[in-house]
Amino acid sequence: MTPDFQFPDSFLWGSATSAYQIEGSPTADGAGPSIWQRFAHTPGMITHGDTGDIACDHYRRFESDIALMQQLGMKAYRFSIAWGRVLPDGTGRVNAKGLDFYERLVDCLLSHGIQPMATLYHWDLPEALDNRGGWLNPDIAHWFAEYASLMFRTLDDRVKLWCTLNEPWVVTDGGYLHGTLAPGHRNLYEAPIATHHLMRAHGAAVQAYRALGQHQVGLVVNIEPKYPASGSEQDLAATRRADAYMNRQYLDPAFFGRYPEEMPEIFGQAWPQWPQADMDLIQQPIDFLGVNYYTRSVNRHDESAWPVKAAPVRQSHATITETGWEVYPQGLSDTLLWLKSRYGDLPLYVTENGSAFYDPPVAEGGKLDDPLRVNYLQKHLKAMHHAIAQGVNLRGYFAWSLLDNLEWSHGFSKRFGLVHVNLQTQERTPKESAHFYARVIASNGRELNEPAP
Ligand code: BGC
Repeated sequence: MTPDFQFPDSFLWGSATSAYQIEGSPTADGAGPSIWQRFAHTPGMITHGDTGDIACDHYRRFESDIALMQQLGMKAYRFSIAWGRVLPDGTGRVNAKGLDFYERLVDCLLSHGIQPMATLYHWDLPEALDNRGGWLNPDIAHWFAEYASLMFRTLDDRVKLWCTLNEPWVVTDGGYLHGTLAPGHRNLYEAPIATHHLMRAHGAAVQAYRALGQHQVGLVVNIEPKYPASGSEQDLAATRRADAYMNRQYLDPAFFGRYPEEMPEIFGQAWPQWPQADMDLIQQPIDFLGVNYYTRSVNRHDESAWPVKAAPVRQSHATITETGWEVYPQGLSDTLLWLKSRYGDLPLYVTENGSAFYDPPVAEGGKLDDPLRVNYLQKHLKAMHHAIAQGVNLRGYFAWSLLDNLEWSHGFSKRFGLVHVNLQTQERTPKESAHFYARVIASNGRELNEPAP
């Protein structure tokens, strides 16, 4: 029997963005610069020398962007708050104009019937805090709790879903181990320290929420399920290490209060011992988990793959996106089912999922055909439905991304948007994928019963 792709009535359909990727005007109205501001302005760090100086100019165009979300029928929107807009020095002095921007954004969402989900940290650490050691300074857990408390006090009467960190693995792996993302460090010894203080900051923010907040707070992780390239003991062990490094390194401390046993094997003497009190701080009960899913990897043992000694094996016959990621929808249902079996029956949200593909120019009449993105979306939504049918407590889905935006060190060269952005004119054009998604939302999933467009 073919499944009926009806979703639960309360299912939250939305899209996601982040501050530095779309807002532009990063130092306007008294905001303090972030590490991404500095990184983007360091020659050679971002493709074509792109920066977030203008990006999608969302800081000045948020009202029309929200009207567009409403036209597409979106019920929710996940955005991030730029820490330096509200606390230019990272701590201490509050910038009223920065707070006011996010208040107006949230009010506008609500007046359009769109539920806000706010992320506190999507990688744009205030530069002033990086100058004090950033994620390597243990005090950052207090700095983050101070910032989080300010936002809870300001917006919890209107924001019901809060995310502490977005993808701590990427912050550490890109920012402190490989140096491809801000702040651009490449240091085996720093990486576990950054991870640990990220997780302490998460725990401290959840604690602050219990004192100040009335609704729900969670963590957002990127999960890339790891499959072995063969049944050999070496490949199986490599796959376990890859999974520990990318996935369990963040989930196990949050849920179980301990790091995976593979970590010392991966980091050798660079892996520190942490006090139990830290692990207790990290292990705060959360109300939901946000899952960002893009792809999977198939792994084999490789001594030269620093530091995990596991290398991905490219799959023949697979569709590969512009960021080099295999399209593997089953990985999404596998991930959701694995989370339920390992960490319990917690409410889940898919807080990001999407694809960068080459887009043709916008045609006369404003049409932009993006069949590969439509196909990606359709298959992942079906995989998600499959997980719900198996009993996963999935509450919503946020497509990455609403707009073509600054894809970090790739600059504007990779387009993930459902909506095309002309970077010269700032004109927005919904792609066919946006229209397809609007039909899915309007039919609460039944559109997926139709043959592939
Ligand atoms: C991040 C986004 C990013 C997307 C695509 C996620 O890792 O949260 O900021 O644009 O993936 O790479």
